[in-house]
Amino acid sequence: MIDKKTVRDVDLHGKRVIMRVDFNVPLDGEKNITDDTRIRAALPTIEYLIEQETKLILMSHLGRPNGQIKPELRLSPVGYKLTELLGKEVIVCKDAIGEETSKIISGMQIGDVSILENLRFHKEEETNDPEFAKQLAGYADIYVNDAFGTAHRAHASTQGIAQFLPAYAGFLMEKEINFLGKLLYQPVQPYIAIIGGAKVSTKIGVLEKLIERVSVLIIGGGMCYTFLKAKGFEVGNSLVETDKVNFAFELIKKADEKKIKMLLPVDHIITDKIEDDARGRLCDTKAIPSQMIGVDIGPKTIRAFKKEIKEGKTILWNGPMGVFEIERFAKGTMQIAKALASSRGTTVVGGGDSVSAINQIGVADRITHVSTGGGASLEFLEGKELPGVTALIDR
Ligand code: 3PG
Repeated sequence: MIDKKTVRDVDLHGKRVIMRVDFNVPLDGEKNITDDTRIRAALPTIEYLIEQETKLILMSHLGRPNGQIKPELRLSPVGYKLTELLGKEVIVCKDAIGEETSKIISGMQIGDVSILENLRFHKEEETNDPEFAKQLAGYADIYVNDAFGTAHRAHASTQGIAQFLPAYAGFLMEKEINFLGKLLYQPVQPYIAIIGGAKVSTKIGVLEKLIERVSVLIIGGGMCYTFLKAKGFEVGNSLVETDKVNFAFELIKKADEKKIKMLLPVDHIITDKIEDDARGRLCDTKAIPSQMIGVDIGPKTIRAFKKEIKEGKTILWNGPMGVFEIERFAKGTMQIAKALASSRGTTVVGGGDSVSAINQIGVADRITHVSTGGGASLEFLEGKELPGVTALIDR
């Protein structure tokens, strides 16, 4: 359970509240939001704060503008989307700080909601500049952090600001920590983790932690080839992180010693190029030809992975099983998404690509918890302290 005070623990009536949200959402070339999961996920706290008769100022980053104003990363499309979802106008500010923004904020009435411009247009956000944090804090009486997805960053709006205002968790932050906390501290066994994605290097910390917790560890996606290499297989032109082969070898050894079942793909869809019009063919692990690249798990592997998922009481999935952006290489990922949706256990999905697969096949409502955190959920599951959480008031 979260050991931080939440918005339920404070009298908000008539107060000015500044809330950090993670509205770092994907946009297409026309600035249309292609997945609004993160905006919808913050609605319970936003609606609660409106009901509590506050003046609500929202703030977020979008993308990585590195301290520069990038018109394509303005938060106005997010403001309009929020207006639509809330059914009430959200005031969109043209900057996060400055005279014009201060004027808008001081003119706000009870029940009003505003959103500041992309915080990362100011480099002081990421350098956690105390002056910048103080300026943001100056708009409000209370600070709320509902941006779980950015809680692993020690930035002015996630950490610095909490030095100047009483700081509380929002409902999304609370929910994420409670669900992921159960996986970290008291998972109901059998606990099955399915880890995929392109690179082992981004998952080392979480794999080291999971090996202490799970009964079954399933590895798929591009990263499985580094593991297969460590087991002595030839993997053709598949992605291998040579400097991580030793890590993979040690992890396999550890799983063996601890009697943890570790599953790697036994068959694959292989191709000679990763392009939209590429053709794939089926192949066993021990027969990957030298010029070919593994791009998805094969049917025998899908069956084996599904069998384990069915037995699990706690199932964590992070990372696709192949190059799922190309439809003909997406089958493995989609089948895993379906298997999780049919599971009777507690299912938790994290990481942008796995969440997007879940959304694409429309099963998000059959997953116990779809995390809004990519990097943040991995760091949390590694057991790392998240600065955005640490900064909140202890219970
Ligand atoms: C994310 O999308 O994982 C968060 O919004 C954090 O973004 P960042 O990696 O650019 O800090």
